[in-house]
Amino acid sequence: NVQIDKIFAPASAVTAADIEALKPEIEAAHALLHNGKGKGNDFLGWVNLPSSVTAAELDKIEAAARTLRDEADIVIAIGIGGSYLGAKAVLEALSGSFDHLSAPRKGTNPKVLFAGQNISEDYTWELMQAVKDYDIAAIVISKSGTTTEPAIAFRIVRDEIERRYGKAGAARRIAAVTDSAKGALRTLADTEGYPTFVIPDDVGGRYSVLTPVGLLPLAVAGVDIRALVAGAAEMEKFTAEAPFSENPAMQYAAARTALYRSGKKIEILASYEPKLQNIGEWWKQLYGESEGKEGKGIFPASVTLTADLHSMGQYIQQGERTIFETVIRVAEPAHTFRIESDRENLDGLNFLAGKRIGEVNQMAILGTMLAHVDGGVPNIAVELPRIDAHTVGALLYMFEKACGISGYALGVNPFDQPGVEAYKKNMFALLGKPGYEQEGEELRKRL
Ligand code: PA5
Repeated sequence: NVQIDKIFAPASAVTAADIEALKPEIEAAHALLHNGKGKGNDFLGWVNLPSSVTAAELDKIEAAARTLRDEADIVIAIGIGGSYLGAKAVLEALSGSFDHLSAPRKGTNPKVLFAGQNISEDYTWELMQAVKDYDIAAIVISKSGTTTEPAIAFRIVRDEIERRYGKAGAARRIAAVTDSAKGALRTLADTEGYPTFVIPDDVGGRYSVLTPVGLLPLAVAGVDIRALVAGAAEMEKFTAEAPFSENPAMQYAAARTALYRSGKKIEILASYEPKLQNIGEWWKQLYGESEGKEGKGIFPASVTLTADLHSMGQYIQQGERTIFETVIRVAEPAHTFRIESDRENLDGLNFLAGKRIGEVNQMAILGTMLAHVDGGVPNIAVELPRIDAHTVGALLYMFEKACGISGYALGVNPFDQPGVEAYKKNMFALLGKPGYEQEGEELRKRL
């Protein structure tokens, strides 16, 4: 139920024939994901993950979510990168845009807030202020169990929970998602007796949204995680079996690979539904961390339209011609809202009378795609029938599969992220972490 369509300018360097010519290469890259003979093959657990999630695992996640929902008005989900973005993206996509205005209430309407995705003192202070009159619980998520940002946030949130509810209360109100054996978080969780969930060894952070990393916070928020996983499992089966011409993951990977090779270095993911904005953030991490290495890779950016047509739209239409766009089109809004006729028609909008706002949005999408294509920005359309848990699950898996294929077509290991260590080393050195004294001295001379 997720389809790919492509519109290239008549004079574009990339044609349908160029994409077809990539078929053998894309099929070979796809085969590597299934036969495990490619780079980073110890991180392929996500490929067959959706279909292997068992009912017992989902029961366990839902039971833990129920406990947290019953104990707390607000559950703070602590994590960063792949241990944050998936839950945030899906939660936002499947929530009402103004749900945050309704009061958090345990049992019926617990809210999930996020922490550990930054080291902002103000964010931390404001979060702790915001939760002070509510009962709270926490889910701490870290595969390595040693990441600094969530570790700092967890220390603060855990202290607050223990201060309010004592050690025994904390053990009912804190759940940890981490490695089965390694890391400081595993040691801490075992020592304190927190319920734990395991991130499989062979699933990297940015491919982990369909493990307890994403599923536990989403279940707390009331998302139908069974439909999410079922949608992903359907896409898993479809992309494993469908031929190149009908396979959305292969078509998408082929189109973006052809465009990259023709000189398009930047891909902008555009959506016309504000609630998909964080799908863009999740997608940026998936593609940026998977492909951006060895001096190669498409730079992933995102926009929410039509809002950003009044800002970034200028650049997209007439700036450097090194970009292409991938547009998520949602066919059917969940709600109906019509524009009424107005007797005075002072705003001149009566030509829209009787139309649904969604129809106007669709014409904006088509008009923009054609304008951008005419401006030299090729477009790939990802068609979603609607936004629901099933469809979003399918979309997530389609993007994951296409990312693995694209990474292999690019010749990189799509499952490592050696580059993220550089900033950590400098930060530790500047903070005076034991063992980093020499580096610290050298860095300070440069400041
Ligand atoms: O994709 C990745 O592996 C990373 O973005 C990680 O998810 C991120 O660094 C958080 O790591 P951890 O879950 O070990 O705290």
